[in-house]
Amino acid sequence: MSRVKLNLIAAACKKNMGIGVNGALPWRLKKEMAYFTTMTTKVSDPAKVNAVIMGRKTWDSIPDKYRPLSDRVNIVLTHHVDALKDKVPEGVVVVSGLDGAIEYIETRPDIESTWVIGGSAIYEAAMAHPNCGKIYLTEIQNTYDCDTFFPNIDRQQFHLADEDEIPGERQLEGDISYYFRVYKKL
Ligand SMILES: NC(=O)c1ccc[n+]([C@@H]2O[C@H](COP(=O)([O-])OP(=O)(O)OC[C@H]3O[C@@H](n4cnc5c(N)ncnc54)[C@H](OP(=O)(O)O)[C@@H]3O)[C@@H](O)[C@H]2O)c1
Repeated sequence: MSRVKLNLIAAACKKNMGIGVNGALPWRLKKEMAYFTTMTTKVSDPAKVNAVIMGRKTWDSIPDKYRPLSDRVNIVLTHHVDALKDKVPEGVVVVSGLDGAIEYIETRPDIESTWVIGGSAIYEAAMAHPNCGKIYLTEIQNTYDCDTFFPNIDRQQFHLADEDEIPGERQLEGDISYYFRVYKKL
């Protein structure tokens, strides 16, 4: 089996599991965004970096000044590899599917952890993949209109877990509250 473990990270509103609307995030949460950045960037070996895997629409949703996501190997999935390859900055990896992303990461011993950062179909493929590890899900308590959703989490396969470094208490930003949850695949 491949050494590449897929960790998913997402923020979703609890009521409908919405993650996006009109190609953007439905909320603006600075501290939650900082959590995403820390989780996807931090490494235990300073000589290494992490990889982030995303769908083409998630790539499109990142403002130019923030992409590629810094200090991480950015891997973008599309059905139109050749067309996208010419449009992305140097260093961004464009592949035709999740297995292509894993194969690429296997060629890079300097990649420590792999984070699947959305959207819907990519999360779904990652959850069903034998290499799936954990889901880091920020559960937003407020309700938002969304047009993109986190797929159903199969509770037979994924169980809520405590992780030392992840605060378990309710987080508050303005009038928006949320919890950091971790699900482990059995
Ligand atoms: N809240 C969160 O944590 C979070 C995280 C990520 C994204 N979002 C939001 O979610 C929305 C974007 O997500 P989305 O689900 O609409 O789109 P997405 O998954 O980011 O991108 C979909 C595109 O990815 C490519 N793709 C998907 N599956 C593929 C496969 N198996 N093989 C090859 N290519 C594949 C296709 O690109 P082509 O059309 O180029 O072929 C497809 O159109 C935005 O609103 C964004 O802000 C939220």
